[in-house]
Order: sequence, then structure tokens, then C-alpha cells
Amino acid sequence: MARLKRKLLKKVKNQKNLDTSKIKAKIKKELESTKTLEKQLTIKDGKKYVKTGVPGFDELFERGIPRGSAILVAGGTGSGKTIFCLQTLAHHASNGEKCFYMSFEESDEKLKNHMKDFGWDPEKLIKSGKLKIQRYSPFEISRSVEAMLAKEKGELLIDIEPVVLPEGFKPDFIVLDSLTAVASAFIGREDSYRVYLEQLFSFFETMGSTSLLITETKQIPDIFSTTGVEEFLADGVIVFYNIKRGNFKENAIEVLKMRGEKHQKKIVAMRITDEGIVVYPEQMVFGRIGEEK
Ligand SMILES: Nc1ncnc2c1ncn2[C@@H]1O[C@H](COP(=O)(O)OP(=O)(O)O)[C@@H](O)[C@H]1O
Ligand SMILES: [Mg+2]
Repeated sequence: MARLKRKLLKKVKNQKNLDTSKIKAKIKKELESTKTLEKQLTIKDGKKYVKTGVPGFDELFERGIPRGSAILVAGGTGSGKTIFCLQTLAHHASNGEKCFYMSFEESDEKLKNHMKDFGWDPEKLIKSGKLKIQRYSPFEISRSVEAMLAKEKGELLIDIEPVVLPEGFKPDFIVLDSLTAVASAFIGREDSYRVYLEQLFSFFETMGSTSLLITETKQIPDIFSTTGVEEFLADGVIVFYNIKRGNFKENAIEVLKMRGEKHQKKIVAMRITDEGIVVYPEQMVFGRIGEEK
């Protein structure tokens, strides 16, 4: 900024016969526009990113997952979605961030045992107050949404929290396992599910939490969520593949979309090991996997 001012003043000195008040006004204008530009750059450069801590995965991005975004974690059953999310939460909770796992499927006991299997100490993380795992019933959610909609006569519920979080707990990171389970409780009432989804996404956004929202798909998906609205509302989509090649099953992963960010656009190898998930960003999974169903 100071350098620009000097440069502009020098320009003024070199143009002695010009009307100085006009030039001063011009300098002021130029400096102001520079300030605006600087502000924009700070916002852009100051944009925060989160790393998952999953070895190899973060290398698929130039910068990372923008903090506060909502990401769909899509894939077939057994493709590693739950493990990936638990691993990310274990990483963030041990770094002192508040993490919340909302399970609409497995019990919290089962999830804790899952974590123990991979050597992530769930008891320690829970005791430190950084990790909470809570089980919800999708049917309870759909019933309360229906009841509220009936009361509001179908209008959008602006002030209603779509999930009840533990009191006083404002998570930095949320996992929802899974949107598919939530959707299944709304069968035949898709409009209510859409209202619920909109509420849910805006709730996460207001809280500023980064969220990973699991959706169950076919092993080689052609759609990534139950209604398509989920994809529309999400900032990013990560796809997990479980590919059968002869007698072998291979795991692979792809960053399908990440709004506003540069990322690798290829399906790469992934392994589930005793220590958790490892991604091989340089190891492309070749072949036309869509034809191997
Ligand atoms: N220690 C391990 N080593 C290798 N693979 C494992 C291990 N533990 C679990 N798995 C694999 O992970 C799969 C389950 O992953 P999970 O994240 O629960 O899948 P999803 O949530 O996508 O249904 C199992 O099908 C199993 O093949
Ligand atoms: Mg799962």
C-alpha cells in the first residue's frame, strides 16, 4: 500500500502542470479500490481449510476442504464410509476440535468398538470432551418433522432445530451416518424430507460446522443420494468404490466435486488397513469401472 502511494505521488510530481486537486482525488480513488482488492484477497487467502488426516487423501486437493462446508460421503455398503468418517473425527478430536457423530444406523457401542479396532482411543477422546457419539432414530425425526409441519400448515420452519445437539456443545466437525437412513423414514412423504434437508443444511451452515453426510449408493454409483436434493445442497461429493475384479475386491475413492476448489479428477486406489484408511493419490484405478457391474 505504501509503495503504491509513493508511486502515485511520483506520478503527480512528474505532472506538475496538472490540477493537483483532481490528481489527489484520483489517488484517493485508486487507494480505495486497492483497499477493496486487498480485502477480497484477505478473505480469499484467509479462507480456512480442513484436512481429514486420512493418509494420502488430503493430497487430492490443492488446498483442502473449505472449513464449514457440507460434504456428501457416498458409496456402497462396506466401501469404507463409516471408517473414513470415524478416522477424520478421531484426527480432529485429538487435535482439540469438537467432533460429533450422529448415528442413525449403528449403536454408539458398535462405533466405539470400530474405533478401538483401528487403535483410535474413543474413551479418551470422549473423556476429553472433544468427541461425542449419539444415536438417533430416523423415525422419531420424521414424526417430529411431520408434527411440526402439520402445526405450521406446510410452511417452512424457520426457527426449528432439525437435530437436538448435546447441550452447550457446538461442534467444529459433524458426521451424519446416514442421510439414506433419515430418508427411509420419510418414504411416501418426500416433500417433508426436502423441507427437513433444507433445515438441516442451513442449521449446519449457521453453526459453522464442517459436515460429512453419508449416503448409501450402489457399489458403482450413478446417483449419489436418495433424492438428488442432497447433491444440490452439498458443497462437495466424495465417492467410495468397492470394485470386484475377478476374485478380488478393490477399494477406490474419488473427489467428484468440491465447490470452488481445485482437486484431482480421478479415481484412485484406497486400502482399509488395521490402522485405518490409506489413499494412494498417484495410483489410478484403471479401466472402465462402470462396465464391471
Ligand atoms: N481391520 C480391517 N482391515 C481391513 N479391512 C477392514 C478392517 N476392518 C473393516 N474392514 C473392511 O471395512 C468394511 C466396512 O467399512 P465401513 O466403513 O463400515 O463401510 P460402510 O460404512 O461404507 O458400509 C468391511 O466390509 C471390511 O471389509
Ligand atoms: Mg457405514
